Amino acid sequence: MTIDKFAFIAEEMNRLREASLLNAPRTMGSPADAWMTVDGKRVLNFCANNYLGLANHPRLKEAAKAAIDRWGAGPAAVRTLAGTQALHLELEERLARFKGVESALFVGSGFVANQAVLAPLVGREDVIFSDRLNHASIIDGARLSGAKIVVYEHNDVADCEAKVKEQLPNFRRGLLVTDGVFSMDGDIAPLDKLTELAGRHGLITMVDGRTARACWAAAGAASSITSGCTACSTSRSAR
Ligand SMILES: Cc1ncc(COP(=O)(O)O)c(C=O)c1O
Repeated sequence: MTIDKFAFIAEEMNRLREASLLNAPRTMGSPADAWMTVDGKRVLNFCANNYLGLANHPRLKEAAKAAIDRWGAGPAAVRTLAGTQALHLELEERLARFKGVESALFVGSGFVANQAVLAPLVGREDVIFSDRLNHASIIDGARLSGAKIVVYEHNDVADCEAKVKEQLPNFRRGLLVTDGVFSMDGDIAPLDKLTELAGRHGLITMVDGRTARACWAAAGAASSITSGCTACSTSRSAR
């Protein structure tokens, strides 16, 4: 008799289905817009990141077509293998100027940004102080780094400081990471107080501005939210 080593997959899927936790991606039958066709039905879209409506802006579509005519549909391999097209470098230079920072690195999603930023900054001998409600991709990025993760209560600067005082002396380096705007509830991190605390204790500060960038750009106050931090991941800002 052969043992079915993949039987657990069907069992697990049934378990998820019964608990209403099985998430099957929907099929979009039209461009990403406020109104869309999803699984054949016309629906109002409340779950896109197209905050500024740029996905279908005529100038962006024209620019994308012109870039494809000149550069083709992609560099045909990852940047570290085939190299970076001059077009990507130009994008990053312009993003850095727009953000008023030294340089920018463009990646495909917020999730990837958080995997890319944390591990080069901290490792096994270091500690990360992380807000309890930080986005899941920050938590994954923190785990990937191998650093010890110390969770402080949501937006609670006093709790964060108490944990920094207790834990930091046991490690080589410390990093404090927070969402700028918490995407589930829309509340804002006390960045002035957190960066002041980080400055006093010599912590690297990382602010995930993935949601903040778009919200504050829409509100016309783009620059204030990420001021004062030494390392910022602002994913998706170019979309
Ligand atoms: C603060 C924050 N960081 C990262 C992400 C992940 O971004 P993406 O969906 O582009 O992978 C999200 C997504 O909602 C987010 O709110």
